[in-house]
Amino acid sequence: MVGGKGTRLRPLTVNTPKPMLPTAGHPFLTHLLARIKAAGITHVVLGTSFKAEVFEEYFGDGSEMGLEIEYVVEDQPLGTGGGIRNVYDKLRHDTAIVFNGDVLSGADLNSILDTHREKDADLTMHLVRVANPRAFGCVPTDEDGRVSEFLEKTEDPPTDQINAGCYVFKKELIEQIPAGRAVSVERETFPQLLEEGKRVFGHVDASYWRDMGTPSDFVRGSADLVRGIAYSPLLEGKTGESLVDASAGVRDGVLLLGGTVVGRGTEIGAGCRVDNTVIFDGVTIEPGAVIENSIISSGARIGANAHISGCIIGEGAQVGARCELNAGMRVFPGVVIPDSGIRFSSDQ
Ligand code: GDD
Ligand code: MG
Repeated sequence: MVGGKGTRLRPLTVNTPKPMLPTAGHPFLTHLLARIKAAGITHVVLGTSFKAEVFEEYFGDGSEMGLEIEYVVEDQPLGTGGGIRNVYDKLRHDTAIVFNGDVLSGADLNSILDTHREKDADLTMHLVRVANPRAFGCVPTDEDGRVSEFLEKTEDPPTDQINAGCYVFKKELIEQIPAGRAVSVERETFPQLLEEGKRVFGHVDASYWRDMGTPSDFVRGSADLVRGIAYSPLLEGKTGESLVDASAGVRDGVLLLGGTVVGRGTEIGAGCRVDNTVIFDGVTIEPGAVIENSIISSGARIGANAHISGCIIGEGAQVGARCELNAGMRVFPGVVIPDSGIRFSSDQ
């Protein structure tokens, strides 16, 4: 499922769909596809809508990754359930495993499939426990692991166990989702299946899990991949305090910390300190800048001695020397902020 608009990550997602944002040196979806491949699954159907063409341009037929990838495009976004229904004709087996395209997870996919078989389930959901269950689908289960309710983004969740965004479906259930209109799998399909008494089970584990949908989660997930806290088959033997593309130019005395990633052709001037930050391709950072907990998009330019903390800098934006940008600010693509143009502290 890769059709969402990625609204919470704007302006990063103005031109790039969320699953294609560079994360620890690869478009995010590449990490998920590598995990799928490592689990022995080779036929993948991408349900796309927003910026659909970007996926096929990058992955093609999937053969470079040892996969067979097909694409189904929604002219109008069909929602999560509609998106699943829309790929029905491409499914080749009686069982299909469905992934939200923005989840970074260390779950063992084969043990989720084992649970599905052992329970003789119609539908099995991967569930995790989180600190803030209100932001997700809350999924209580009974002592046998059978799902009793599905409560999408509820104010007063009865448990901290939530939908991790990975489902094993019996194919016939997918056929029953109404075709040709928008359907929310969480708000419509799951409650209906429960009402019909279908065998819906949860597979709970304590693996790494993060939804990459917000700026702070995106930064944290990328940093966790770089540091090996979250596992990706693509980064085996490459994990560490930072991940720097071979074509990047990093001057002496630059400190790269906290799982920072530096993209292709990016230049970082002397004395900069960059902590827990994702820097895309072709970025220029002038000497003495301090950047933390931020995302710097392709082609951006950060002036000397600028301080950036907890921000998104859009594509091609220019932040002047000595600017100070703080928590949650989003500089939109191409915007130019002059030297000392925005500060938080006094300039004296
Ligand atoms: N094809 C298609 N069409 N995909 C879509 C559409 C659509 O219209 N809308 C959303 N998606 C995709 C997104 O690209 C994403 O990969 C996935 O469906 C989930 O959408 P999000 O917008 O990220 O949903 P969420 O994070 O608020 O909540 C969902 O994920 C949580 C776990 O991360 C829900 O499934 C929650 O129940 C769940 O806990
Ligand atoms: Mg999400």
